[in-house]
Amino acid sequence: MQRIAVLVSGSGTNLAALADACDEGRLAAGIVLAASDRECLALERARERDIATEVVGVGDFPDREAWSRRLRDVVLEREPDLVVSAGFMRILAPVFVDAFPMRLINLHPALLPAFPGAHAVRDALDFGVKVTGTTVHLIDHEVDHGPILLQEPVKVREDDTEETLHERIKVVERELLVEGCRLVLEGRVRVDGHRVRIDPPA
Ligand code: GRF
Repeated sequence: MQRIAVLVSGSGTNLAALADACDEGRLAAGIVLAASDRECLALERARERDIATEVVGVGDFPDREAWSRRLRDVVLEREPDLVVSAGFMRILAPVFVDAFPMRLINLHPALLPAFPGAHAVRDALDFGVKVTGTTVHLIDHEVDHGPILLQEPVKVREDDTEETLHERIKVVERELLVEGCRLVLEGRVRVDGHRVRIDPPA
C-alpha cells in the first residue's frame, strides 16, 4: 500500500475526498498523516477517520525555515510516497520542498498561472473572467508556480458569489486531486523544463 501525507489548514473536504478514494479502492493508497499549522476542521475529519494528525504551529518556531524543517521531519517520519497540500495556507520553505522531489503536489482553486495566492476565487471573480477552474501542480520554490499536472475549467455564472463559485470549483477539484495523486503514485509524471509529460498507464 502506498502512503500519502496530507497538509491541511481548512475544512478538509479534499482530505475527505482522498480518504474516500482510498477506502473505495479508487486509489491504491492510504493516508498515513494529516498535518496542519493549526487546529482546524480538516484535522477533526481526519481523527474521525482514524487518520494520524500532527499540528506544527508557526508561532512555536523562530522563523519559517525552522518551522518548515520541523514539519518536514514530522512528515518524513511517516515515510510517505506522496505529500499533498490540500488547502494548506502556509508557504513551505525550500528545506521542506527539497525533501520530496517529484512527490509534493498542491491544489489551487484557479487556472494557474492566473490568480495565484490565497484569494484565487475572489480575485478571479473581481477580475471578471468568464472561466476559471482548478489546478493540480508540483510544488517548487515559488508560490503556486510549479509544473502543472492537471487543470479543469469551471464557468463563472452571472450571479456567482465567491462562495457559490468556490463550491463548484471544489466539486471539480476533488476528482482532479484524486487523479493527480494516482498519476504520481503510478510513476507516470515526467517533468520536461516546466512542462509535465504524463506517461500512459502501464
Ligand atoms: C480548496 O479550494 C483548495 O484548492 C484551496 O483551499 C481549499 C481547501 O478546501 N487551496 P478544503 O480544506 O479541502 O475543504
